[in-house]
Amino acid sequence: MRDDATTVKIKTARGEREVEAAMGANLLGVFRANDIPIAAGCGGRGTCGKCGVITGGVKKLACETKVEPDMRVEIENEENSFAIVTDYAGGAAAAPPGECQRPRVAIDVGTTTVVLQLIDASDGRVVGTRSFLNGQRIYGEDVVTRIKYAGEGGLDTLNRAIRGGLLSAFCALCADAGLDRGRPEYICVAGNTTMMYLLLGHRCDSLGAYPFEPEFPIRERYTFSDVFGSDAFSCPVYLVPWVSAYVGGDITAGRLACRAGPDETALLIDMGTNGEMMLWSGDNIRCCSTAAGPAFEGGGIECGTGSIPGAISKVGLADGKFVCETIGGASPIGICGSGALDASACMLRGGYMDESGRMNDPYFGDGVVIAEGAGGGKIIFTQKDIREIQLAKSAIRAGVEIMLKVSELSADRIDTVYLAGGFGQKLCLESAVEIGLIPEALREKIRASGNSSLGGCVKICRDMKMMDAARALAKKAREIQLNTHPDFQDLFMEHMMFGQEDE
Ligand code: FES
Repeated sequence: MRDDATTVKIKTARGEREVEAAMGANLLGVFRANDIPIAAGCGGRGTCGKCGVITGGVKKLACETKVEPDMRVEIENEENSFAIVTDYAGGAAAAPPGECQRPRVAIDVGTTTVVLQLIDASDGRVVGTRSFLNGQRIYGEDVVTRIKYAGEGGLDTLNRAIRGGLLSAFCALCADAGLDRGRPEYICVAGNTTMMYLLLGHRCDSLGAYPFEPEFPIRERYTFSDVFGSDAFSCPVYLVPWVSAYVGGDITAGRLACRAGPDETALLIDMGTNGEMMLWSGDNIRCCSTAAGPAFEGGGIECGTGSIPGAISKVGLADGKFVCETIGGASPIGICGSGALDASACMLRGGYMDESGRMNDPYFGDGVVIAEGAGGGKIIFTQKDIREIQLAKSAIRAGVEIMLKVSELSADRIDTVYLAGGFGQKLCLESAVEIGLIPEALREKIRASGNSSLGGCVKICRDMKMMDAARALAKKAREIQLNTHPDFQDLFMEHMMFGQEDE
């Protein structure tokens, strides 16, 4: 051991690990260097409060803690068991045309999770699945934080983090099926534009600054080594075309997965930190992205957490008392996005706040206790949490209204609303309508579409002609710039109110 080094004993849900670290080193940096997963929403800026550890009986933030001699640390919010969405609408196999019978691999590179599926080309069946948490998460949970980190010298680190994870998952997927180097025919990858840039090792500065124009074009076809940084396999890699810096290939692929019929008028919404939407009616295809903030992913919420076991994912009121459901039925450790949405609806329904989102006394100052935590601590929902949900729901709803307006459609003309992602699967429709996130007229039209980005890649793996459809779609889609749209601010303010005030 070096003279300036010491040991750090790290207790996680899976046991204890001992690592060597320089005295005085930043503890979050030690976790990063040793691939120890911990929530680090703000990427170490000390603002999200997610990287909590207990050391010497005291709760501290890892990103603000220095390594001390023979330190013992317990991680509060380990994220190794994040719920990963691997299913999607339209997942049933369809026999693809064509003569080549070699297997193909579909990959969704999400900001949080990554999923790979092996497709048997002879019958279109999914014959293998591998998934993992995006290793970039410890450098920041959303694309904005990662763009910043990349711009501050972390580009190679982020590139290595995703490539390393992807290569080992790909090798494992192929090994499971006994596939050698030359066997897979091709790979189809979708992800948001930032994820694709980081995967390819491109600078991201242009994605993080006005006018948000991608600096580097993304080609459709790459070699295996271009993308994975390795010659372990020889098949080409196709990236699903994007529309813009903030409407990525994941939305293009998602649209392919959702398509029910040529005459359908529909809306696809992916409610992440960056809410992305696409609306199509015949040849008229519009899309936009709206800065919803991290609340729907449990970020920025006082007792917020990701979708991990113990996260409160449903909240209701029964006889004036809060009733909570957690992921996996574990003891509550925090509230994830869907739970926070439900909690907001309960605040409104139970008279804890008014429609403007102001909590009534005595809750304004201290918040409302909605559950007892695992260690007897209280899980509270605060005024600030309400504001976070309010901003997120208003950004999404204003985006929906503008998409409808620009497309000259009323909500009742929409046949289906596809909600993509894990949040869309867990979201309680009643709560979403009750607080005004979703217009009342769309209530009966909502379908959770799961990991639709992966679903679109699987479609391309079943039939390469779908890549032509993706290309045409990305070309045809017209993006609406919400931040410069004359109605956005008014609609945003209007929908800050909770409830369906406009109906
Ligand atoms: S407060 Fe430490 S990572 Fe955000």
